[in-house]
Amino acid sequence: MSDPIRILMCAPEHYDVDYVINPWMEGNVHKSSRDRAADQWHDLHHIIKEHAIVDLVEPVKGWPDMVFTANAGLVLGDQVVLSRFLHPERQGEEPYFKAWFEANGYTVHECPPDLPFEGAGDALFDREGRWLWAGYGFRTELDSHPLIAQWLDIEVLSLRLVDNRFYHLDTCFCPLKGGYLLYYPPAFDAYSNHLIEERVPAAKRIAIAEADAVNFACNAVNVEDVVIMNRISPELQAAIEGAGFQVRQTPLNEFLKAGGAAKCLTLRTTEPILPDVHAAVSVQSRTVQMRGHLLDAGILNNALDLVVERGGSFKVLNFDLGTERHSTSLAQVRVSAPDSEVMAEIMMELIRMGAVERPDDEQNAQLEDVPLVGVAPDDFYVTTIYPTEVRINDQWVRVGNQRMDGAIAVRHTEAGPVATCKLLRDLELGEQVVVGTQGLRTVRKPAEREQRTSKQEFSFMGSGVSSERRVELVVEQIAWDLRRIRDQGGKVVVTAGPVVIHTGGSQHLSHLIRNGYVQALLGGNAIAVHDIEQALMGTSLGVDMKQGVPVSGGHRHHLKTINTVRRYGSIAQTVEAGVLTKGVMYECVKQHVPFCLAGSIRDDGPLPDTEMDLLQAQGEYARLLEGADMVLMLSTMLHSIGVGNMTPAGVKMVCVDINPAVVTKLSDRGSIESIGVVTDVGLFLSLLVQQLERLTNPYAVMA
Ligand SMILES: NC(=O)c1ccc[n+]([C@@H]2O[C@H](COP(=O)([O-])OP(=O)(O)OC[C@H]3O[C@@H](n4cnc5c(N)ncnc54)[C@H](O)[C@@H]3O)[C@@H](O)[C@H]2O)c1
Repeated sequence: MSDPIRILMCAPEHYDVDYVINPWMEGNVHKSSRDRAADQWHDLHHIIKEHAIVDLVEPVKGWPDMVFTANAGLVLGDQVVLSRFLHPERQGEEPYFKAWFEANGYTVHECPPDLPFEGAGDALFDREGRWLWAGYGFRTELDSHPLIAQWLDIEVLSLRLVDNRFYHLDTCFCPLKGGYLLYYPPAFDAYSNHLIEERVPAAKRIAIAEADAVNFACNAVNVEDVVIMNRISPELQAAIEGAGFQVRQTPLNEFLKAGGAAKCLTLRTTEPILPDVHAAVSVQSRTVQMRGHLLDAGILNNALDLVVERGGSFKVLNFDLGTERHSTSLAQVRVSAPDSEVMAEIMMELIRMGAVERPDDEQNAQLEDVPLVGVAPDDFYVTTIYPTEVRINDQWVRVGNQRMDGAIAVRHTEAGPVATCKLLRDLELGEQVVVGTQGLRTVRKPAEREQRTSKQEFSFMGSGVSSERRVELVVEQIAWDLRRIRDQGGKVVVTAGPVVIHTGGSQHLSHLIRNGYVQALLGGNAIAVHDIEQALMGTSLGVDMKQGVPVSGGHRHHLKTINTVRRYGSIAQTVEAGVLTKGVMYECVKQHVPFCLAGSIRDDGPLPDTEMDLLQAQGEYARLLEGADMVLMLSTMLHSIGVGNMTPAGVKMVCVDINPAVVTKLSDRGSIESIGVVTDVGLFLSLLVQQLERLTNPYAVMA
């Protein structure tokens, strides 16, 4: 015969809503009726007594929430993990509950002072005793889960709460006998829902609707085949009864005002212990270090927000704030995640932000063989634009050919390991690939305060306004850079779409090429077709570029243009034949500026120069981008995104587009080198040329 079930309760003598620590309390301070609350509590007490032995803990004046005994602690056998409340408003309950547990013969475990854990409110045993579901996100910290697993010798499954109305696990989750589960899925993140679905078969999951959830239907007490709860909908009642349970409803609306109901008012102190169940927890922790202008550049904030947004948790172990204007700060942060997959996602982002392992914790990267030509091992590390180093044989090795969305291939040569960023399709047998996030770091140089301020000035997408003066300011800066790069023998690569031609930008882009400001041009079929169309026929896409009106039969002009170039064999041969005498492509040929026209599905013709083998085109783009100091992206989303992915950090990128969303996408690479300009590309180019002229020959412009 099994031991009787025991439940701990606390009479509501001092119950009231005295403060606001959850959304339910808002607007309800001192609005609950103590008499009605007492009646409702006694009715619940009466029902529970029919099914279990009720123990009582003495209520204490000044601690109105003691009535919610679910938050006293978490009991298994003769062990209890005492609650460590997050809010000071409830911390005073701890000694009273501790005294009760000690007086009743329990061994009491306590979390460290700054590690909140709110007892059975956030930890619910599977009713078959197989594991413990533990919540985190609002009240309980993820880092308490491994301690609970160890103290209670049980597997802990971490669930992340994401809706602050359901701030404790027991407000939206109720394991029932026989492996059934009553729960409100939207209260959890996707990872947690996935975990729930993995552990509880669909036939045993009773997902409830919001209307029942906000009546705290999940805040129910299950004793054997009985489920005791606040009022619920007939549909939910039918569903629970359909699973073989008897539903006992009792109104608890006075307690709802404080954000609690049946389950919150009880603590089950007898839980089944299975002999073959032991401690297991998938929570992982890693300590990282960040250096830079962590506070004023918002780096630390962003990093910590990211950890939480991705489902992790953190503890700042050390923070050394630099004191001088130029000094940097150093933070050591312990990051926890519910499992290795979430940890890997968080770490990838943190590495991208410049986080590194503590020097004492540095580990070699994990390497796995390429399993098939052009295929990486699962879990391969996906590269970013930032200069990366990988730790191999206790040495940091710089990764070559840095680009986004590649894998890090490692070859072991006599001179030592060589790490290179490679596209998946280029991976070869015999190479190894970095998997996971261990032994990786990106090399970031902290931006100077002045640089950061000036970026604000130039990338004004955030403000939503791009007044003419602001465009001029950006253009001044870009013109200065262009001139500097040219004079220093540097490299500027332009990627341009046909809009450059339609908006009258051809003459200006031609000017830039003619005057040595452009060292390579990347585009598609269209920029070349419309540029040559304009040079040969004065129209762009059939529109007269002088009058701004469509010419009759003009829609055929671009096809005639393509035909002409095809007749001569290539753009260069059309120039040599003296047929093409001006324009962007003409200048490229004349100035020996290499170009690559990458084909696309919508191309007419195409021109003989258009590379229709995309892999070839990608390779050629990458080759032309090598060593670039600046990339000017002019109104082509397709080609600019392609270029953005191939370009490592450190290369200044200027993205000009009329659509703010495109500019944001392209220039928001978390890199201070990128500038976004939301404006008409024709206008931009004309301002740029004007400004360059002013820099070159100020008196000519003033005259
Ligand atoms: N006849 C042809 O062969 C033909 C014609 C058109 C496009 N294409 C090909 O299709 C592909 C995609 O073309 P795409 O790059 O032009 O298209 P895209 O959509 O990738 O980019 C065009 C960009 O120009 C921006 N834009 C529009 N008006 C602007 C203005 N006045 N100022 C600044 N920005 C402005 C848009 O917001 C957009 O982001 C390319 O490979 C191109 O060569 C071929």
